[in-house]
Amino acid sequence: MVREIKCDINDKEVTLLADLRLSLAEMLRQNGYFGVKIGCGVGECGACTVLVDGLPVDSCLYLAIWAQGKNIRTVEGEAREGRLSPVQQAYVEEGAVQCGFCTPGFIMTSTAFVEKHQGRACTREEIRQGHSGNLCRCTGYENIIRAVERCQKEDLDKETGPDQE
Ligand code: FES
Ligand code: FES
Repeated sequence: MVREIKCDINDKEVTLLADLRLSLAEMLRQNGYFGVKIGCGVGECGACTVLVDGLPVDSCLYLAIWAQGKNIRTVEGEAREGRLSPVQQAYVEEGAVQCGFCTPGFIMTSTAFVEKHQGRACTREEIRQGHSGNLCRCTGYENIIRAVERCQKEDLDKETGPDQE
């Protein structure tokens, strides 16, 4: 049975059709949001992470029909007016991308993490914990953690000015 789903994707109101059994990941990919990767398909790898009302969700385990009336963010919506988001830019600066398959999911998890902890720099352990639902087969974890640290530091510098030597 097919249902009509009205939701907001990357700040745009959309109406999509989805079978009741379809996952959000599949619905998004069927509608051109190919940044949503399907790795394991069972909630283990985080490659399919999108934000639903600001919270990271494994979209392979989230039914498309649950997206009714929700605000969805995918990696496609993060760059604005040709500029990468602060998280994306930090990933580039820190070389936190290897094959790139896990990257969209990581970017969305990092984005939610940075937004949640705005105004303070988290410890490495907090950053690790906050990203524990995302796996990278290329094992580029160190650079990903550094990217999140950089992003948080730049954010704080904007608020308080850079550290004085
Ligand atoms: Fe969804 Fe792996 S594809 S968690
Ligand atoms: Fe290859 Fe993470 S960069 S899986």
